[in-house]
Amino acid sequence: MAAMPNHPLRSVQRRQWLAACAGAAMLPVASASAMRPQITLRFSHVVAEETPKGMAANRFKTLVEQRSGGRIEVQVFPNAQLYGDADEMQALQIGAVDLLAPSLSKFGRIGLPEFELFDLPFLFDDLNAVRRITLGPLGQRLLQGLQRQGLEGLGYFDNGFKQMSANRPLLEPKDFVGLRMRIQASQVLAAQMRALGARPVALPFSETRRALATGVVDGTENPVSNFWTQDMDRVQSDLSLTNHGYLGYAVVANQRLWNYLTPTDRDLIHLALQDALGFANQMADTQNDKALVALRQAHTTHIHSLSQAQRDLMRQAVQPVHLELARRIGSDWLQTLSEALGQ
Ligand code: LMR
Repeated sequence: MAAMPNHPLRSVQRRQWLAACAGAAMLPVASASAMRPQITLRFSHVVAEETPKGMAANRFKTLVEQRSGGRIEVQVFPNAQLYGDADEMQALQIGAVDLLAPSLSKFGRIGLPEFELFDLPFLFDDLNAVRRITLGPLGQRLLQGLQRQGLEGLGYFDNGFKQMSANRPLLEPKDFVGLRMRIQASQVLAAQMRALGARPVALPFSETRRALATGVVDGTENPVSNFWTQDMDRVQSDLSLTNHGYLGYAVVANQRLWNYLTPTDRDLIHLALQDALGFANQMADTQNDKALVALRQAHTTHIHSLSQAQRDLMRQAVQPVHLELARRIGSDWLQTLSEALGQ
């Protein structure tokens, strides 16, 4: 059976065919496979390499290739080189790419609005609270739901908490009035910006810096590691350390490819991924802290901390979003969430 173009079998069959050719024509099969990987996994993402996600993807590549003795190759495509926010999910669903690690904010628009619970502002006090969800039964149930969209959910990892930036300090809700704020394509984030009096503008990550530079948008929200590695400090005069929301990721595979792999290879890949995600979670704090230090030393943007009173004002302003989006996310998910968080 000839696999459809871009079908995940395509690259595997091509390798086997090549290995077979190598065996028949020139070399014993063993050495042919040693010279050439039998399986190539294409891992695409939208951020820079010096970010928690960039480092996780490269660590995963190293571990898989080492542990498979080169039989399984991982090709990593950072910075939206291969696919970006607009087309990566569809590319994964049709098998044009094998692995992604999109932000949890990006699953709502492919029919999984329950993932937008992670976008609820001021929901998590710290990363331990996040991990009570991602490493607990609720997190696993969310990953299983990905199968509805032909995806296999393999695990979560953090970037960290988001900060607000613009060309003025954003310390209180009144500072947001009238600003066009870039967001990820999440209805919870759109409601959050509207609750602050701003106008939400959903744009792909790879277009954000240019949109800030050209004035298409006035500001945005992101963890410091993304802000720094995208040079947003050169087009935003003020960064306000609001810690108002969480940014995390789920690693997802094309389901047909995943089911096609042998149980041994699935285990090898899954274990390497868990090790890489553990590493990434350690990196999350470090990379954001390092970026903040670098920003302070660069003197390219003013960095503002909020007083407790200012933080309370902002929390009050966005609190109604939790109720407003409850129907979209699903009250059963929210019920389980607040029980898991002990709220
Ligand atoms: C964003 O679009 O702001 C982030 O999801 C980018 C990323 O993947 O960290």
